[in-house]
Amino acid sequence: MLPPMSHIETLAVHAGMDGLTEAGVHVPGIDLSTTNPLRGVESGGESYENLATGGTPEPGDSAVYQRLWQPGVARFESALAALERAEGTVAFATGMAALTATLIATVTAGKPHIVALRPLYGGTDHVLASGLLRTTVTWTDLAGVTAAIRSDTGLVILETPANPTLELTDIRAVVDAAGDVPVLVDNTFATPVLQRPIESGATLVLHSATKFLGGHGDAMGGTVSGSEEWMVRLRQVRALTGGLLTPFNAYLLHRGLRTLPVRVHAQQATAAEVATRLAGHPALVRVLYPGLPGQDPQGLIGRQCSGAGSLLALDLGGYAAALRFTEALGLITHAVSLGGVDSLVQHPASLTHRPVAPDARPPGGIVRISIGLEHVDDLMDDILTALLVARVPVGASNTYGAAI
Ligand SMILES: Cc1ncc(COP(=O)(O)O)c(C=O)c1O
Repeated sequence: MLPPMSHIETLAVHAGMDGLTEAGVHVPGIDLSTTNPLRGVESGGESYENLATGGTPEPGDSAVYQRLWQPGVARFESALAALERAEGTVAFATGMAALTATLIATVTAGKPHIVALRPLYGGTDHVLASGLLRTTVTWTDLAGVTAAIRSDTGLVILETPANPTLELTDIRAVVDAAGDVPVLVDNTFATPVLQRPIESGATLVLHSATKFLGGHGDAMGGTVSGSEEWMVRLRQVRALTGGLLTPFNAYLLHRGLRTLPVRVHAQQATAAEVATRLAGHPALVRVLYPGLPGQDPQGLIGRQCSGAGSLLALDLGGYAAALRFTEALGLITHAVSLGGVDSLVQHPASLTHRPVAPDARPPGGIVRISIGLEHVDDLMDDILTALLVARVPVGASNTYGAAI
């Protein structure tokens, strides 16, 4: 049994692995059962009712049906809850399924108004702006949170570092400004290795597990962590709407957690080095990375989070230069997503943040890079070559006089 306050490296390796020795195995198996034998008609019905209303099975109970409860998913959930220092976690098919389940739980509790701090991931912005789930939204920043709260406000939502500008927000200050209203922090970029929002007073922590938690770009998933009372509500929404994580993806995501601290620290070290080497480059208006001097004016690194992470954004000053840069990269793949072992680049204004209202969309000159586990010198070679292309329009000459 793990002591509850073990170091995160130890928790990452061992959390959610209980009972393996007794079962005579070293890693958990993947149970693919969609249904489970019932022990009797009465007890089967009682198990069904318990699980369909957000409960978990007692030892010896049938799991009834995979949409209601799944042992591998439960293992992954208990592991992530330990890392996030939460009472529980509920896992979903994707990060968006996790978010929509939370919004449904909020609306059905009679609190459909959401206070959202921009910038957010474009999909989150889109679902809120669309009102698809019968939510209404007030967009604001930290200074406007208290004034934005209404009697029907069910949730305050923020991301820190934010997507794609990497700005940091003071979670504790938002929690104080929100008063009794629950605060949800999307912790996808920081991961529990660098930041545990519940320790800063947040009610709920959301992940696109598709990103760092899995870490290899091969499994979709989403999670919400928080109090057991919230987990009951979210398991009920999941049971009724069916946005569940598959057993195979639960296995991959749980396996991903075991190397999460090592990956996050290595990727962060490379990102810090890339940001430092690029700062002041003549082809760049700005390098956006909270670990660079002056980019964490509130001193949140060291207080709220232990590091700046492994995402950075480059401002090339305009859409055309951003496009030339993105398309000129070779080692760094032009693809949406982030947090994997390989570095990815994407152009938020035209891709992830395309659905965002034009006045809130990131500038067209910004590209976002997720730094992976490649050697820093190889990444720099790729970036510097692409910056040469970005500076000079196609058909012109670069600074060395060679045709590009
Ligand atoms: C910060 C953030 N939150 C949520 C999501 C949505 O997650 P998913 O794509 O797993 O549905 C994403 C996806 O890019 C994201 O970057």
